[in-house]
Amino acid sequence: MTSREDIAAMRRQYGEVGLVDAQLPKNPVELFNTWLSDAAANEVVVEANAMVLSTVVDNQPSSRTVLLKDLTNEGFTFFSNYESRKAKQISENKNVSLLFPWYPLERQVIILGTASKISDEESDKYFASRPRGSQIGAWASMQSSELSDRVLLENKFAQLEEKWPVGTQIPRPEFWGGYVVLPTSIEFWQGRYSRLHDRIRYLRSGNNEWQIKRFYP
Ligand SMILES: Cc1cc2nc3c(=O)[nH]c(=O)nc-3n(C[C@H](O)[C@H](O)[C@H](O)COP(=O)(O)O)c2cc1C
Repeated sequence: MTSREDIAAMRRQYGEVGLVDAQLPKNPVELFNTWLSDAAANEVVVEANAMVLSTVVDNQPSSRTVLLKDLTNEGFTFFSNYESRKAKQISENKNVSLLFPWYPLERQVIILGTASKISDEESDKYFASRPRGSQIGAWASMQSSELSDRVLLENKFAQLEEKWPVGTQIPRPEFWGGYVVLPTSIEFWQGRYSRLHDRIRYLRSGNNEWQIKRFYP
């Protein structure tokens, strides 16, 4: 078991490589893409595209991991169940945060923005690209609803496998699709020596125009 002393002593020496003001791109999506590629190429990072999505309703934040599946200047896209807890929360409050924790690279990116549903066509396209098991899984799961017995889920999956034998086209459920998070702020954190970390925040000042600010770590 990890003792409280062990936890308090957990720290590592962060590197020399930092964020140099003169080399920062004007568009944060460019820097994000470089960091995502670095994370994907790092053999210790698992699921480089995993991000923690936080929503807030009635002053109560809640967080969960989702996978980034597309990135453009319009924002960060993930897919989910449109009747899930997160979906209900987004329909009440579209302000969300995304956090990419790339610890082996001593990096973190935090995005603030607003979530909205992507078009049915875009969701159809992505759904069609998913493996059959994931497609049937999306149909089988009433995500975030109470499940009294796992057998019910497995039976539902088996029934749907019979309904759509291998080779048949499986339609996208209406209750499943994508969200895009349009960023208003993207903050890059790079670990540096002696806790003198780099913290660079891009704040949207217009359509694809960004202000760049540095903050104390
Ligand atoms: C690595 C990882 C990736 C995940 N990716 C997704 C995803 O892309 N979409 C999704 O709906 N849930 C994903 N989940 C499950 C969510 O974290 C969460 O349990 C689920 O979406 C229900 O959340 P909610 O009840 O807050 O709506 C993932 C979980 C993990 C650990």
